[in-house]
Amino acid sequence: MFKRLQEKWGVSTYQFWVIFIVFGLTGTTTAILTRYITAWLGMNAGTYWVWKVVLRMGMLLFGYQFILLGFGAFLGQWPFFWKYEKKLLRKLGVLSPDPGVEEEVKSKESKINSGIIKPKTKQIAIFASGTGSNAEKIIAHLKNHSSIDVVLVVCNKPGAGVLSIASANHIQTLLIEKEPFLKGDAYIPILKDKGVDFIVLAGFLWKIPEALIAAYPKRIINIHPALLPKHGGKGMYGMRVHESVIAAGEKESGITIHYVSEHFDEGEAVFQAICSIDEKDTPETLSQKIHALEHAHFPGIVEKLVLLS
Ligand code: GAR
Repeated sequence: MFKRLQEKWGVSTYQFWVIFIVFGLTGTTTAILTRYITAWLGMNAGTYWVWKVVLRMGMLLFGYQFILLGFGAFLGQWPFFWKYEKKLLRKLGVLSPDPGVEEEVKSKESKINSGIIKPKTKQIAIFASGTGSNAEKIIAHLKNHSSIDVVLVVCNKPGAGVLSIASANHIQTLLIEKEPFLKGDAYIPILKDKGVDFIVLAGFLWKIPEALIAAYPKRIINIHPALLPKHGGKGMYGMRVHESVIAAGEKESGITIHYVSEHFDEGEAVFQAICSIDEKDTPETLSQKIHALEHAHFPGIVEKLVLLS
């Protein structure tokens, strides 16, 4: 149960326990403060019960939230708790809805459900160069999806595992060559011809040419096996990333899903999830942890971003 919650929050084990402590400290402090305020206001057994309820509700609705932020900031978890508070304020209607991915997807989904807009089938292409474990998870997640189809797997390595995954799932493949690809627009007509609306890079290592980015604005995403902006850039892929993270003595790593820009690993980040690194971890064991994180989050995020596009 703890593990699930940790994954849902997207935090490291250390952060998870600190967050738990913050909630515990806040609960206790709120209870003690409420008792002091009750005494200070002279409330006792004879006080009309409504006043007591008003005080408790006030403490719960306002006092608790301020104390939570205070302890959260004190223990270095301001970003987590501020996000939590903003969500609550949005629910209470105090803050206007965040144009964040989650909210936008929810509002689009409810418009589709109530018939205000019609769902359009989006066709996606997965670009991958290697084993294709992420491609496999995405394909499985989107199988039988009502409005997303994986129509093409693009690969630059003959014999790569991802090609067998594509054919096992009856998905067309396209083997590309470096020179025409990097030139820019050589493969765009094929992608357009296949009706590709959105491109997912799942372990694809060539730089995406500007012409392709221009043809798919905010419609190409990549997954990087570390917490960008650290350990990214040219030449940073696969095991090289994990070796760099371990060599730097990091205590945490994770995954970053981001829109693709003309610079390696620099496009706008949409999602990050974190895992902790133990002293015993090697690049190999870290790679396993990262793959597990990728498989747990990437398919769902792909679905959301495609629906939003
Ligand atoms: C994944 O870990 C992905 O994050 C990484 O390649 C791996 C592909 O694994 N991508 C990069 O390093 C991009 N800079 P897979 O073939 O098993 O999906």
